[in-house]
Amino acid sequence: PRYIWLSRHGESQYNLEGKIGGDADLSERGWKYAKKLPSLVETYIPNHEKLTVWTSTLKRTQQTGSYLPYPKKTWKALDELDAGVCDGMTYEEIAEKYPDDFKARDEDKFEYRYRGGESYRDVILRLEPIIMEMENQENVLIITHQAVLRCIYAYFMNVPQQQSPWMSIPLHTLIRLEPRAYETLVTRIKADI
Ligand code: F6P
Repeated sequence: PRYIWLSRHGESQYNLEGKIGGDADLSERGWKYAKKLPSLVETYIPNHEKLTVWTSTLKRTQQTGSYLPYPKKTWKALDELDAGVCDGMTYEEIAEKYPDDFKARDEDKFEYRYRGGESYRDVILRLEPIIMEMENQENVLIITHQAVLRCIYAYFMNVPQQQSPWMSIPLHTLIRLEPRAYETLVTRIKADI
């Protein structure tokens, strides 16, 4: 079978502080996940010797992959949804400073585009070439971000793209997708850290 392996980056300092976007380093717990990842990969990924690891250009995904001894490729298109003027803020700060935007996002999370940033729809468009490239890959582990993974996940699970913002992609979990002719099977491997 052909699998696609997905993971969010380990917990970042911003995750701890409830801030969105940014380019923060991993937290202590996030580094634990990074250190655990090689043994998870060896245990669960058949032919891991031939694995390729894709990350975004942001530090937290590269740090998460830093202990993995495989060829790596960095894609700008795998960077997290750009929150524009809200980058680096908490949801509470956004609700206070941009109440209309906060409400608009709540009403249509798929179409809402951050001021100077992106919507989920925008992310899906920029992921198109990546997804095409993924379909040609034998053995790839993609370490990226929550919103990006929700879009990739919905695509492979055949979920309508408008539902992408609500896919559940927890931290510290390796996700295995097995695309079949009529459905994609999914297995979640939780790292116990
Ligand atoms: O909080 C982590 C994060 O990856 C943010 O950087 C990003 O804006 C957010 O998740 C996306 O999730 P949501 O669309 O639910 O706000």
